[in-house]
This record gives sequence, structure tokens and C-alpha cells, in this order.
Amino acid sequence: MTEKSKDPRSFDLKQYSFPTEQIPRLSINDPEADRRISKALPVVLTDTNLVTSALHWDLDYLSKNIGDGEFVVHISKNKNFQYCDDKKSVNVKDFRMPTEKQDMKFSEFVEKLHSAKPGEDRLYLQQILHDTVGKRVISDFLGFNWHWVTRQQKTNNFGEMTSNLLLIGMEGNVTPGHYDEQENFFSQVRGYKRFVLFPPSQFACMYPYPIYHPCDRQSQVDFDNPDFTQFPKFKEACGMEAVVGPGDVLYIPMYWWHHVQSLPSHGYTISVTFWYKAGQAEKIEYPLKPQQKVAMMRNIEKMIHQALNNPSEMPEFMSSMTLGRYT
Ligand code: FUM
Ligand code: FE
Repeated sequence: MTEKSKDPRSFDLKQYSFPTEQIPRLSINDPEADRRISKALPVVLTDTNLVTSALHWDLDYLSKNIGDGEFVVHISKNKNFQYCDDKKSVNVKDFRMPTEKQDMKFSEFVEKLHSAKPGEDRLYLQQILHDTVGKRVISDFLGFNWHWVTRQQKTNNFGEMTSNLLLIGMEGNVTPGHYDEQENFFSQVRGYKRFVLFPPSQFACMYPYPIYHPCDRQSQVDFDNPDFTQFPKFKEACGMEAVVGPGDVLYIPMYWWHHVQSLPSHGYTISVTFWYKAGQAEKIEYPLKPQQKVAMMRNIEKMIHQALNNPSEMPEFMSSMTLGRYT
């Protein structure tokens, strides 16, 4: 075995067009790990045991034990699975959702996954975990390290936990660059994923869609193949990256941009998210933090959108407010 193949994280990874530094991989006993979380900086934690009780999950085990409920499966004609809010489709003329969403039994998903051929539709199961799952999966779920994660929630003043999303994706699937309005302890269960993150301070390099657009919170830039003519400031973007494997937990702070790719391993990857709302506002300190400014921009944009009551009036309004005055 070569030195390279010994490390499961040393995949032959393509170089991005932007510079990246590695996200530190730390033990939870390293004080630097707690410091990073408290400062809203990403970190890969190697020994949280957060999902140790699920590390035996594979398609076979889940098929037998996850129950016969319906699961949300996204279907894409290409590798990208861009999240879009269907409810905002009315705001954009002729908008077509980039992926299709289907509810299906777990067995149907597995069948489709096994019979998928290169170049054909790709699948990505994205289902909130709830108590309709079978007894064994419930017991695995109860065995998550709730003690550790709840202590983190309290120490870092996160709000309530909203959900655990179960993600089962085909290798090669990509969740394109976006940010979430929640804190996330992203837990890898099976296979490997490559993450690229950008801090909220690089908002201007990311060219997010307008807030009223179905692709709100998503970057218009294709991180895999950026169009610098259309998005010149993306040239200034500087990322952080990590490959996470079974048992790793990546802390993705709220408002941090992230792009995720399932790497080739067993043909598919399994992950579980632990999402938390923002905590109560602490004492305001100036200058405001980049994430507070992003929140403020969102609120102002929302207010203007509501007041105008017509998304097609937004571009002119926004530019006449700033053009030649603040630009
Ligand atoms: O594809 C993914 O694992 C995406 C995760 C996320 O956006 O939080
Ligand atoms: Fe996300």
C-alpha cells in the first residue's frame, strides 16, 4: 500500500480555481476546538462520538430497519442538487426548478440507486428524521452523543435544535455553494465528502441570488467552473476545505458559504445534520461582525421586497438607491 492510499482522506482531488487552506482537524479535548466553535470558525472534530451509534448504517441495514414511510428524494439531470424554494417560484417569470422532488419508499430509492447508470438521473435522499422510523434506527438515534452536542448548544448560546436531516447521496453528487441561516454540526456516517467553505465576510465575492428568488441563499457562481467575466469579484475569494469521513463532525457556522461533493467510496454517502437556530442576540458590539451584517442585509432586502410588492421593481430600486452615491 502506498503512503497516499493509507490515508482515506488523500483522494485525488481536483484543484479549485481559488486558493484554499485546510480546515483544522481537532480532538474535542483540544482547547482550540472549543475556541473555534465559540468564535464561529469551522473545525472538523474527529472524536465527538456524535454518530458512533450509526456508523454501521448502510443501505442494506437501513432498508431493513428504517420503516416503510415516505422519503423525500431529489432527482437531478446533472451532478448539482441546488436547493430552491418552490414557494418563491412565482417571483421569477418562467422559473424552472433545477431538480425534481419525489416522495418514495426507502426500498424504491435503493432500487433506483442500484440501477442508476452513468449519465442518467442522479438521486439524493434528503429526509428529516422523525419517529416513523423502525425500532432499531430509533435506538441508534437515541444513542447519538446528545450529551456532547447539547453541551455545545448551551456553551455557545445556540437556539433550539430544529432538525436532523438524513442525507444519502450518490457519489459525485454536489450541493452547490450556499449558506444556511442555522448552525450545523454536520456528521459524516458513511463514505467521504469534500467541503469547501467561505466566510460570511466574502459575501460580495459570492454573488448570492436576490432574496425573493427561489435560489435565495445560493451563490450564482459555479465554484467548479467560475465565470469570472460575469462574477469578477469571485477572483478574490479565498476558501477553506476539508474531506470528512465516517465519525467526523464538521462545524459549519451560520452564514458560512459551503459547497459539498460526495467522493467515490461505496457508491453512496450517508450523513446526518444537527441544525440549531441562532441564539438570542448578545450585547451589540461595534463594528458589527460580517454575519450580523449579512443578517441585516437580508432584513433590509426583505423589507424593500415587501414594500414594493413587485419583484420586477427591485433591480432599478436597488441600483438607484446606491448608484453613483455608494458605488
Ligand atoms: O450535500 C450535503 O451534504 C449538504 C449539506 C449542507 O448543505 O448542509
Ligand atoms: Fe447547507
